[in-house]
Amino acid sequence: VSSIEVDVSALTPGMSLTVKWRGKPVFIRNRTPKEIEDATNVQLSQLKDPIARNANLPSDAQATDGDRGAGKGKENWLVMIGVCTHLGCIPLGQQGDFGGWFCPCHGSQYDTAGRIRSGPAPENLPVPPLSFISDTVIKIG
Ligand code: FES
Repeated sequence: VSSIEVDVSALTPGMSLTVKWRGKPVFIRNRTPKEIEDATNVQLSQLKDPIARNANLPSDAQATDGDRGAGKGKENWLVMIGVCTHLGCIPLGQQGDFGGWFCPCHGSQYDTAGRIRSGPAPENLPVPPLSFISDTVIKIG
């Protein structure tokens, strides 16, 4: 199947889930207000990759926190393919200097919006096609 439906009703803020989609891990995180605030406070000029990499938006959309999240009213949800954009390792969640994801292979660090902030990875973790089909079910793909 090319799309999956994931019930996220059990995820309170600060909790994550990893699912598999098209053979790849997809991280789903219900972000805390602090994580959203930290990511929102980052200027685009501070980003190594200023492009949103969000399959639900135009390819030139910028990597603001709002354009990394799961849409209006769902900004707390961050859904992204959990494959490091350097050489494809799986980053570890809620680790590293930016409070987001840390790749153990060569030390790339992603922030709480999944944007690359340091290390060799060139791009933000990509946001797959997604939609909420109910308040608590996300369709990916
Ligand atoms: Fe993640 Fe190299 S594969 S830093």
